Amino acid sequence: MSSGSILPYFVSGIIVKGFGRGSKSLGIPTANFPEDVVDSLPQDFKTGIYYGWAAFEGEIYKMVMSIGWNPFYKNEKKTMEVHMLHEFNNDLHGKHLKIAIMGFIRPERDFASLADLINEIKHDIEVANLKLNTTEMIEYKSCEFLTFS
Ligand SMILES: Cc1cc2nc3c(=O)[nH]c(=O)nc-3n(C[C@H](O)[C@H](O)[C@H](O)COP(=O)(O)O)c2cc1C
Repeated sequence: MSSGSILPYFVSGIIVKGFGRGSKSLGIPTANFPEDVVDSLPQDFKTGIYYGWAAFEGEIYKMVMSIGWNPFYKNEKKTMEVHMLHEFNNDLHGKHLKIAIMGFIRPERDFASLADLINEIKHDIEVANLKLNTTEMIEYKSCEFLTFS
């Protein structure tokens, strides 16, 4: 089923610790939403990889995210992990994050190796970067949900 009908979808929450693999073995840090936020997603919200905007500490960043069970790691709990297209040097845990999920990129997949997973995520980042450069997407950067604190 397509999630197109419920996009853009807006989510807000405090960043919690993930399983700790994000920055260590992947080099792609992710900000994870807490369990209650994940559970509040509509039942029919399709799992997979999405792109959109993230509002964090007064700035709006491009983001790419994964919603689901990370088949490569065989997670038992569904997660929502956001990678902002920006380099942060500080710890993001405990801080507030708001996102506008704008579009679907692909379903989650398993991979033969960690290198293959990383390559696919890098490709997702390129896709997100291009999609978010369109006029239609840029208009959402200034929407009230993202800019009103
Ligand atoms: C854009 C993006 C795409 C991802 N795609 C997949 C995927 O196809 N399959 C998968 O198992 N995990 C995928 N992941 C999840 C990563 O495996 C996950 O971010 C990593 O395990 C870090 O998790 P942690 O922060 O909970 O430690 C993706 C993550 C991102 C940010």
